[in-house]
Amino acid sequence: MKPKIMVLNGPNLNLLGVRQPHIYGHDTLADIERRLQARARTHGLVIDMRQSNHEGELVTWIQEARTTCAGIIINPAAYTHTSVAILDALLACDLPIIELHLSNPHKREEFRHRSFVTVAAKGVIAGFGAGGYELALDAMAKLVADASPGAPRAKTGAKKRRTP
Ligand code: DQA
Repeated sequence: MKPKIMVLNGPNLNLLGVRQPHIYGHDTLADIERRLQARARTHGLVIDMRQSNHEGELVTWIQEARTTCAGIIINPAAYTHTSVAILDALLACDLPIIELHLSNPHKREEFRHRSFVTVAAKGVIAGFGAGGYELALDAMAKLVADASPGAPRAKTGAKKRRTP
């Protein structure tokens, strides 16, 4: 069975394409999902892309991913800056997690500079618009491949002792 990646989207991302397009672009979430499905196939992955305006629903989906998925890509949207519940759910997952934003929150209002979610994330992709989803999937594919049983072990950096 192909490894499954949960791609979660938080509040107001259902309005992509019409919501502040000068910040978030003209692609809809459906456009993004279509491209991501195609990209997933090239990596031998399956994606399960979901969006919710409700914090608790996102928490429930993260808990579901804990036992059914090989990784989570999450754009928590406004919950990035407020949600301890989403952070705690992510911390309960022993999975690679990538935090994703279409815009670069650090170039925006100060309240967006703080992310609760980053603590749980392997890495963050921000500021590349809709294309960030594909960048996140490429990064996730590598993390999943590296974690698979047949993957070569990471080098420890320990040097061999020279025999005199
Ligand atoms: C966002 C950035 C958040 O600050 C904002 O609340 C969003 C979208 C982004 O993708 O750039 O809704 O996560």
